[in-house]
Amino acid sequence: MPEIPVQFPGQQVFDRARAFFETSDFNEAHFNRLRSEWKQAGFTIKPGALAPKPDSRAHMLTLLFNDAAISESDFVELGNRQALDDLKELGMVVCSPAGVLTSTVRTRPFRGLYVICDHEPPNRQFADDFVFPPDDTNTFNYLRYVAFSPCEAFLEACGGSGIAALIAASRCAERSWSSDLAERSTVFARFSAALSGLSNFTAVRGDTYEPVQDRVFDRIAVHPPYVPVLRHSFIFHGGGLDGEQITRKHITDLHGRLKPGGRLYCRCGATDRKGAPLEMRIRQWLGEHESEYDIALQVLGYVEPWRFLMKSVRTGRTRPEELAEWGNVLEELQLETLLMCVFVVQRHEEKRTPFTVRREEGPYSGPKELDWLLEIETARSRQGVEHVLSSRLKVNPTVTLSMVNSAKQGEWELRSQFAEVVHPHPLKMELDPLSAFLLPGLNGQSTGRELFHSLVEQGAISPDDPQEAIRNFATGLLEMASSGLIFVEGLEPPAPVRNESRNDL
Ligand SMILES: C[S@@+](CC[C@H](N)C(=O)[O-])C[C@H]1O[C@@H](n2cnc3c(N)ncnc32)[C@H](O)[C@@H]1O
Repeated sequence: MPEIPVQFPGQQVFDRARAFFETSDFNEAHFNRLRSEWKQAGFTIKPGALAPKPDSRAHMLTLLFNDAAISESDFVELGNRQALDDLKELGMVVCSPAGVLTSTVRTRPFRGLYVICDHEPPNRQFADDFVFPPDDTNTFNYLRYVAFSPCEAFLEACGGSGIAALIAASRCAERSWSSDLAERSTVFARFSAALSGLSNFTAVRGDTYEPVQDRVFDRIAVHPPYVPVLRHSFIFHGGGLDGEQITRKHITDLHGRLKPGGRLYCRCGATDRKGAPLEMRIRQWLGEHESEYDIALQVLGYVEPWRFLMKSVRTGRTRPEELAEWGNVLEELQLETLLMCVFVVQRHEEKRTPFTVRREEGPYSGPKELDWLLEIETARSRQGVEHVLSSRLKVNPTVTLSMVNSAKQGEWELRSQFAEVVHPHPLKMELDPLSAFLLPGLNGQSTGRELFHSLVEQGAISPDDPQEAIRNFATGLLEMASSGLIFVEGLEPPAPVRNESRNDL
């Protein structure tokens, strides 16, 4: 394992380095623009290769912290000697050979912060404790789902660079922690906080929640290692045979870590097993306290296990002779499919019935739809049928209805009716004839109770037991509301936006 290169001189050195970065326009916009120009021009940095004299300080810093070498005299001419001394004292820059500067860590202006991580090693020969980049595609995706709304205490478990905890510290949390098994990640996260001038951030080291002891949090974010592996691989990568080992531990040990109303957000790869879909197993992992928690799972995509293994063979991660062993593992685990997902575990604020819900992502689904799902299910669990009986209801304007008819005695006979939506989540639901009749007329003017009474008045239904009938009627409305076929006043889903044009962070 390479030595940890960064140092912790006084905070004034960090502050001067940050001020130098800021006055040099070494910021996210500039960084992204340069990187996209390089990509368009087909320019790639050869690690350690001396770059020609850059035309600006921002350009110089972007090159230097993306693994190019810069001549010391160019640095001093474009920047200044004090700044160079500071970066050397911080251990971010070394001079070797004489007169040539290289960076020891990749430094990335990101979300108003300066975040360090490891440079990608040649041929992707990662060290076991490689510090994961904050702008990796998977991390970008994870960050989209984490709620960065005001809270007292935020924890990023499996923190790596500590990016979610750093963002939380700078934007919304009174106090934020990042925790990681690896010493290197912990030191890097602490360094990024000091470099970004954050004084409400703590980086701790240890397994799962062990280093945060008995602290409780409003929010926990986890992006664990989740790749199924036969044997130990890099700490940031392997999640045991089923990929779930680290995720599971963060759920089995969760009780006592979340405040009432607190939420854990996890993005990971996981599995559906025969007769045991992921969300049911997450509930089991919660153990004896499971009834105090809700679970909402949004599936980002499915991967057929053998497809995953073949890809892994092609990329050299799995040896062909290991496939037989994998066959046994899949059989033993009763594994049906691998999936990528985001799930939220929410601790109850009051005693009520827990919910477990699963939806798939479509072209118009994302973090906002997951939030909406949590809100509507929480309201349903709190208020029961009253949730729809006392609220005005409106049909989802994008719903379609299809009918299946079969030939019977020379005529078409209606067999079934299916309502379908793509937003908030893609979903197809069989409707009973009364719901299908009712659906298009829901114009937001009437509550569930008023609809029921008007159906009785019209003679469309004539219940023997009105109390039971209105409960059954409301239960059907609740199902349609949770599926997004109808909107409940005050709890409408967000407006549909195509996935790729979103910027939720
Ligand atoms: C996929 S990286 C995610 C890093 C960062 N949160 C991100 O999204 O970029 C997973 C991190 O989990 C850490 N890790 C692995 N096993 C752990 C455990 N048992 N307890 C705490 N951290 C662990 C690794 O060191 C690594 O930094």
